Amino acid sequence: MKTYSAPPAWVEIDRAALGVNLSLVAGELPLSAKIMAVVKADAYGHGLVPIARELVRRKVGALAVNSVAEGLQVRRQVNASVPVVVLLGPREEEAGACLDFHLTPVIYSLPVARALAREAGKRKTTVRAHLKVDTGMGRLGVIWSDLPDFLQSLSPLKRLHVTGVVSHLARADEPGESYNRLQWRRYRQAMEVVAETGRPLTENHLANSAAAFFRPETHLHFIRPGIMLYGGSPSGDPELTRNLGLRPVMSLKSRIIQIKTLPARSAVSYGGTYRTSRAERVALLPVGYANGYSRHLSNRGQVLIGGRLLPVIGRVCMSLIIVRLDDRMDCAVGDEAVLLGSQGDQTIYGDTLAAQAGTIAYELFCLLEHRTSNIELERHDLWRQQSFFCFLSAVWILATKILINSSVSFRIGSNKS
Ligand SMILES: Cc1ncc(COP(=O)(O)O)c(C=O)c1O
Repeated sequence: MKTYSAPPAWVEIDRAALGVNLSLVAGELPLSAKIMAVVKADAYGHGLVPIARELVRRKVGALAVNSVAEGLQVRRQVNASVPVVVLLGPREEEAGACLDFHLTPVIYSLPVARALAREAGKRKTTVRAHLKVDTGMGRLGVIWSDLPDFLQSLSPLKRLHVTGVVSHLARADEPGESYNRLQWRRYRQAMEVVAETGRPLTENHLANSAAAFFRPETHLHFIRPGIMLYGGSPSGDPELTRNLGLRPVMSLKSRIIQIKTLPARSAVSYGGTYRTSRAERVALLPVGYANGYSRHLSNRGQVLIGGRLLPVIGRVCMSLIIVRLDDRMDCAVGDEAVLLGSQGDQTIYGDTLAAQAGTIAYELFCLLEHRTSNIELERHDLWRQQSFFCFLSAVWILATKILINSSVSFRIGSNKS
């Protein structure tokens, strides 16, 4: 395509790819476990509402968000009857909202637990909560050894029902690591200690993507995958992504705005960190670190043009990168370039690009969303929607005109007869 009206660089979200990834994850599961899809942090930068809608349409068992604010967004904008679990837990003043909007709070603090019980009392109901236990991640949750005391303090709160024990593994992406076994042991002890309080536990969950993939024993009532749903590798290795058939949900795209041949020994971009060894043909793309395409990708990143993998040369600028073209390849200004995602039979996986940028796919996705802005994406989508509605309106106007004309000519005709 030689002409375009899309923005200089944009993110595309492929919901069909999300469906494929979801089926692959579900294929790993025993029938007894359900998927609690992690859509926190704006669905890892993929857009909370559209992603949650698609996952609910595809019958996930639950959704996991970061905050009450994200939970409210799901309840208000997604027609979801599934549980919505608030991973970071509510603040005290958000306890009422959890009850009113049927959000499942993750609890680890007594004041919040008391606030939830109080709000449940006001509404003459009970509240179901998941208890977060820190089994060795050293992050959120009640430290596993403090659990008996914590449970004792919870016992007067008759309106608060702990229905699930939650924890998170620190090294699940390292399958041979013995620390996983230690955390698993502590987690099972925690389940036993909570079960001794007499409450039936029906909503336990521990496994992220990596644990779900490498440690089937941790599947329990729910698994909590995030990155695999978005096409990231459970181990961080893009080869595994390819072998599993996971597909990138997010793509970053741009279009060539200039093609030229630089003479031999030309310096390229700021600092002249790349010099042409001979006359080299290059393409300029209007995308850079302002779009979340990291400066660490200078002289390291790769881009797909015409289905070929081509190197980024010189430093990544704020809104420009330079790509070395193959001498023989046929391309022109306006041609589409893929910086993340697939073109032809080639794919740049999130894990590959992230490794080149010295980070992980999780951060890359989140940064691309924030820097390559939803606005661009929305504009892009809007542009498509508008074209569709323009087309529909045109058909509608035409049809109305034909109808009016035919009824007029019919009446005229019948008058005549
Ligand atoms: C508590 C918790 N559970 C589950 C997940 C999902 O992990 P993953 O994206 O590795 O599947 C995360 C992600 O960071 C998390 O923080």
